[in-house]
Amino acid sequence: MSDGSSVQAEQLAYYRAVADEYEEHVIDVPGQDELQSAVDSFRPTGDVLELACGSGLWTQRLLRSASTLTAVDGAPEMLARARARVGSDRRVRFIEADLFSWQADRRYDAVFFGFWISHVPDDEFAAFWSLVADALTPGGRVFFCDDNHRPEPELIEGADSPLVQRRLNDGRPFTVIKIPFEPADLEQRLQALGWSITVTGTSGPFYWGTGGFTPGRSRLGGRA
Ligand SMILES: C[S@@+](CC[C@H](N)C(=O)[O-])C[C@H]1O[C@@H](n2cnc3c(N)ncnc32)[C@H](O)[C@@H]1O
Repeated sequence: MSDGSSVQAEQLAYYRAVADEYEEHVIDVPGQDELQSAVDSFRPTGDVLELACGSGLWTQRLLRSASTLTAVDGAPEMLARARARVGSDRRVRFIEADLFSWQADRRYDAVFFGFWISHVPDDEFAAFWSLVADALTPGGRVFFCDDNHRPEPELIEGADSPLVQRRLNDGRPFTVIKIPFEPADLEQRLQALGWSITVTGTSGPFYWGTGGFTPGRSRLGGRA
């Protein structure tokens, strides 16, 4: 069994390698359109931070309402694709960084992350949410979406393991973290960290969460 940091490194290596075929691995199951409607309803305005932006599938949608957008990802190959997708929009700043050590250099009106929370290992969960809290203005809003779809052939370490095996089109295998959150459990975990976030399921394996930091609560696990 690998230690946490080497799994995180392998996970990033997977996304670097899969960047050019990323859209070919999108899962074709119900609920996708519900997520898109939820993002459209969220409609973030002002200065927006997108974490793990990937190839920019959501970035363009966020730019429909954002005044500025800072998009962070650890894979230069993904960032190149996101840059190409949004073109020369001067409202966008891309940052290449490891989200397990990065800290925001300013605060934002909204923080968004699509298909990222399921890839955050359990022992990084609280630190990741501290990063989000530290990146938000008081009263700022969060939106995330993800899925808990883990096909049987990926469960090479068993159904109880957070680790799954993904393969590139050429068959190369990579171990990645994929935590199959249930919306109600995730909502409770976030409440325990001081968040007031509603997590909503869809007709398929997708879910989204939206809300903010609970007024009057001090941040648990927050960085000084
Ligand atoms: C499932 S993809 C989601 C991409 C995009 N948000 C979307 O919904 O299509 C996960 C993203 O996390 C990025 N990533 C993986 N490990 C990372 C790390 N340690 N730091 C920053 N980004 C990372 C990958 O490069 C990839 O773009």
